[in-house]
Amino acid sequence: MKILLFGKNGQVGWELQRSLSPLGELIALDRHSPDLCGDLTNLQGLADTVQRVRPDVIVNAAAHTAVDKAESEPELARTLNALAPGVLAQEAAKLGALLVHYSTDYVFDGSGSRPWTEADTPAPLNVYGQTKLEGEQAIQAACPHHLIFRTSWVYAAHGGNFAKTMLRLAQECERLTAIDDQFGAPTGADLLADVTVHAIRQVLRRPADAGLYHLAAGGETSWHGYAKHVLAQAERTHTAIKMVAKALDPVPTSAFPTPARRPHNSRLDTSKLQATFGLTLPPWQQGVDRMLDEVSTK
Ligand SMILES: NC(=O)c1ccc[n+]([C@@H]2O[C@H](COP(=O)([O-])OP(=O)(O)OC[C@H]3O[C@@H](n4cnc5c(N)ncnc54)[C@H](OP(=O)(O)O)[C@@H]3O)[C@@H](O)[C@H]2O)c1
Repeated sequence: MKILLFGKNGQVGWELQRSLSPLGELIALDRHSPDLCGDLTNLQGLADTVQRVRPDVIVNAAAHTAVDKAESEPELARTLNALAPGVLAQEAAKLGALLVHYSTDYVFDGSGSRPWTEADTPAPLNVYGQTKLEGEQAIQAACPHHLIFRTSWVYAAHGGNFAKTMLRLAQECERLTAIDDQFGAPTGADLLADVTVHAIRQVLRRPADAGLYHLAAGGETSWHGYAKHVLAQAERTHTAIKMVAKALDPVPTSAFPTPARRPHNSRLDTSKLQATFGLTLPPWQQGVDRMLDEVSTK
């Protein structure tokens, strides 16, 4: 089997390089790859790459993920998040390949407190969410043989993330703040990559299981709850880290004005994915603790 991966150096792409490799021949690209085009702004180049490689499975982990920046560069965000996935879908359909793609809780407006299901109506609050939604729709229109995973609050040991930032700040500042009115589940890129492989294997055997799924770690928290957990865990297990922070204050979203509006309710109902693929999504704390162990030994 041949797998073509776009965005190999992002948080999820990096973990996919590991998890996809036992499935077959993996061709992993980033935007600077020399021989094959992996640049999502080059739509013709992407189409040519797919037709040259003729993969059985295409996995797209590349995206415009800078949520605030997307507000001032909507055309670039649209090219990466909507037009490029559309091209990949058209080319996948020509080959009969499976297209795997990632989307976001930001397709929803964040109202209410109930976890969002796949049947709920999206209503994005910002350019990033709008363009990611357009990407989903382009894939659904062009290539029924797809897996789209909507996920939330992604972190990885590889690269920067919220937990690492809080750890650094806790060693520099006596008083920290974190938002306590946005709720979701921090989800490890490693979990996303491992679940992706299970789902690919099943959909190749049972094409009827293709479609859109919500995929996030179990449980829920706020950014404040997440930060509190990170600091407590670091204090318990990483005694070499010298904390100076004495307080972590909860603050509302309005305390951190940003160009992009963000949803308050990012909870995702993952029961469809768990039932379809027979998987259990572990509590979010499990992956966060593992990531903290990994970064503290580096
Ligand atoms: N991060 C989150 O909290 C989150 C939440 C929900 C959903 N998601 C979705 O999950 C997926 C993976 O996200 P992630 O967290 O792994 O993102 P990430 O770490 O920001 O990685 C995105 C990747 O896209 C690449 N990229 C940017 N412009 C490109 C271009 N023109 N051509 C090719 N590649 C380009 C980046 O390459 P460079 O490194 O060269 O810039 C980077 O490797 C995305 O679809 C994202 O929308 C993420």
